[in-house]
Amino acid sequence: MTQEITFLPTEASGDKTLRMSFVRDEDERPKVAYNQFSCEVPVISLDGIDDKVSGRRQEICQQILAACEDWGLFQVVDHGIDAALVAEMSQMAREFFTLPPEEKLRFDMTGGKNGGFAVSSRFQEAVQNWREVVTYFSYPLRARDYSRWPDKPEGWRTVVESYSEKIMGLSCKLLGILSEAMGLDHDALSDACVDMEQKITVNYYPKCPQPDLTLGLKRHTDSGTITLLLQDQVGGLQATKDGGKTWITVLPIEGAFVVILGDHGHYLSNGRFKNADHQAVVNSNCSRLSIATFQTPAPDAIVYPLEIREGATPILDEPITFLDMYRNKKVKE
Ligand code: SIN
Ligand code: FE2
Repeated sequence: MTQEITFLPTEASGDKTLRMSFVRDEDERPKVAYNQFSCEVPVISLDGIDDKVSGRRQEICQQILAACEDWGLFQVVDHGIDAALVAEMSQMAREFFTLPPEEKLRFDMTGGKNGGFAVSSRFQEAVQNWREVVTYFSYPLRARDYSRWPDKPEGWRTVVESYSEKIMGLSCKLLGILSEAMGLDHDALSDACVDMEQKITVNYYPKCPQPDLTLGLKRHTDSGTITLLLQDQVGGLQATKDGGKTWITVLPIEGAFVVILGDHGHYLSNGRFKNADHQAVVNSNCSRLSIATFQTPAPDAIVYPLEIREGATPILDEPITFLDMYRNKKVKE
C-alpha cells in the first residue's frame, strides 16, 4: 500500500496549534531556546593541519582529542572548503524546499527508498519530526542513483557532486587526525570503514506555530563514524554532555562545520570518543536549514575497538558488522 505524504501546515494555512502527531511527551520537549547560544562547544581552526614540522598538527590533534572525549562534538573553521561552494549548496537547497509539492514528490522516498524527498522522516514514526528532508546517497560512486537525486533547482546535482567530493576529502583528513590522536596509524579509521559511504541529508525546518511542544529532529546519536553538519545562522542544533539533564544550543558560525562523532567512532575508540547525543529544535520566527553529511563504514565492515587502553574493558563483547550494529540500535535516524 502506498502511503500518502501529508505536508506540514504552511504559514498560509494560518494554523495556530500543532497537530497532535507532532506533540512530544513532556520530557522530550525543548528545554532551551533555539537562539540561546552557548560557546561551550570547542571551535577548532584547521589552519596548518598539514604542517607536520612546526608542531601545529599535534596541537590540532590535541584540541580535537579533548573535544571528542568531552563532547563528541566540535566545530571546525579554516577547513579549506571553498566558501562559495558552501553558499551555493545552501542556497540551492533552500530553493528546492520552496518548489511546489508535486515537484518535490517526484522524489518521494517515504517507505524507505534510497534517497529523495520526505516530510518528517522516510520511516513512519510514533511522533513526527517538524521538518522536510532531502537525502542524496553520494558514496561509493556506484551508490549514486541519479533517478533519486532531485534535479531542481537547475544545476543542484552538479553542486551536490562537488560538495560531496570536498566533504569526503575533509572527512578523510579528520579521520586521519582522529587516528593519530588515538596513537594509531594515520589510515586506521579510514581502513576500518573499508569502503567508506557518504549520505547527504538536507533538513528544512519550517516556522512552527508551537515550537515548545515539538522537535525538528528528535534526540539521537548518529550511527556512522563522523558527521559534518553545516547549519545556517538561525540556530537550533542542541547537544548535551550529561545524558539530557542540560542541553545547550550550538552557536551557529558562518561557514563552519559541526563535526559529530557517531556510534561507529565511539565503538572504534572503545568509548573514548563520545557519540554525541543531539537534537534540533524549531521556532516560530523563521525557517532553518541544515545539511548533514554522514560518513559511515561499509555495511559489512567489522566494528570492534581499534585500541583498548591498559586496564580498560572492551566496549563490545565480540566483533559485529556495521549493519548488525545499526539493526541493534533502538533510536535510529
Ligand atoms: C542532524 O542531526 O542530522 C541535524 C541536526 C540539525 O539540523 O541541526
Ligand atoms: Fe544527527
